[in-house]
Amino acid sequence: MQKTAREFEVVVWGASGFTGKLTAEYLLARYGVAGVLRWAIAGRSAAKLEAVRDDIARETGCAASALPILIGDGDDDAFLDTLTPRTQVVCTTVGPYAKYGSKLVAACVANGTDYCDLTGEVHWMQRMIETHQDAAAESGARIVFTCGFDCIPSDLGAFFLQREMRTRHGVACSRIQYRVAGFSGGASGGTVASMLLMMEEAERDPAVMRTMNDPYALNPKSERSGPDAPERTSAAWDGDFQQWTAPFVMAGINTKVVRRTNALLGYAYGKAFRYDEAILMGAGPLGLAKAVATSVGTAAMMGAMRIGPLRRAVSGRLPQPGDGPSKQKREAGYFDIHLRGEHPTDASKSLRGRIHGDRDPGYGSTSKMLGESAVCLAKDAISVAGGCWTPASAMGERLLTRLGENAGVTFSIGE
Ligand SMILES: NC(=O)c1ccc[n+]([C@@H]2O[C@H](COP(=O)([O-])OP(=O)(O)OC[C@H]3O[C@@H](n4cnc5c(N)ncnc54)[C@H](OP(=O)(O)O)[C@@H]3O)[C@@H](O)[C@H]2O)c1
Repeated sequence: MQKTAREFEVVVWGASGFTGKLTAEYLLARYGVAGVLRWAIAGRSAAKLEAVRDDIARETGCAASALPILIGDGDDDAFLDTLTPRTQVVCTTVGPYAKYGSKLVAACVANGTDYCDLTGEVHWMQRMIETHQDAAAESGARIVFTCGFDCIPSDLGAFFLQREMRTRHGVACSRIQYRVAGFSGGASGGTVASMLLMMEEAERDPAVMRTMNDPYALNPKSERSGPDAPERTSAAWDGDFQQWTAPFVMAGINTKVVRRTNALLGYAYGKAFRYDEAILMGAGPLGLAKAVATSVGTAAMMGAMRIGPLRRAVSGRLPQPGDGPSKQKREAGYFDIHLRGEHPTDASKSLRGRIHGDRDPGYGSTSKMLGESAVCLAKDAISVAGGCWTPASAMGERLLTRLGENAGVTFSIGE
């Protein structure tokens, strides 16, 4: 369903931040200004946004002086109520979303404006879904959370492997394993701030921790059960990959989104579908040692983050808002994910898949995934109506094509 044209197709909200600027840079390089895409950058500081416009023009070699700049504060309801009807899609990188995002979602829902973001804050998403699902269905606003490294490779990876299994063998995979084989990148201040805020809220409110630990927390309220247990926290041998594995720190977010997609697609993957994520650490004693060290390190870090004084002591040494990995690090970065989709009755027909990204996962690739999600919502004939969606349930095939053709994120079958 495509919507009536508005002044802008996409507004990048938060373009003065680390990831917002990269998203704007990507859109400028790929789509130019006032040509194939009508778009604008927005935020609360005119001076910062003018500097962003100059910087991205210099970085890309593309003229940007005609790129509109819209100014306002995310806390100002009246401003948000005038911003959101001017655009078909708001693409937001203003996070932590639990702190800055709720009013924007409400304004998009009220004005029938599509929305995509980079949140990984499960408790906030659950709250937004419960608050806005009915009104979004009514207004036609398509609200799509998690359009970055979490959770697009996971969500579209599962969607892709299920499609391939159905095409080749006429059935759904009964289980999918997502295994991180390699990646290189870093973290930004906004990501650190979002993680710290989530831990702070979990310490204050046990319901937040329960939500984070519930594997089906993002499913519709009456459908929060299934065969999967909470994420593993220890090292384990994976016989299917013949390697030791360690917990993947993003799994707690990604797995819930994949399960929500299954529910939103009317259980196209089956009610007994199982999904899990881990990092491959190699075989033999060295693989075991690495898996144990990574598991213990991750558990210690997560444990420390739950304790206020430790969290505050560590936070000063981590990247601050506005900071993030250098251009050199982003361009040298990559990610490589292996998938295995289990045939429900015949192991010889199980499928292996692969996802590859040509930039660091968190920023170089994330900014391209978010930018393409926004353009997909604005331009492609996707069939979903208003509501709170996942990337795969809203944009599945269209986004797969866009990411492969434009964003250097490829999904393939084979070892
Ligand atoms: N899912 C993923 O894979 C992924 C990857 C990367 C980032 N993220 C998430 O993306 C978010 C942004 O990260 P980042 O490192 O880019 O953050 P950042 O550099 O700190 O940028 C935050 C942005 O929010 C803006 N902002 C803050 N308060 C505002 C308000 N009241 N009104 C309008 N704008 C406001 C800031 O504007 P000023 O410049 O004016 O301060 C800035 O533009 C975080 O939540 C992070 O977790 C997720």
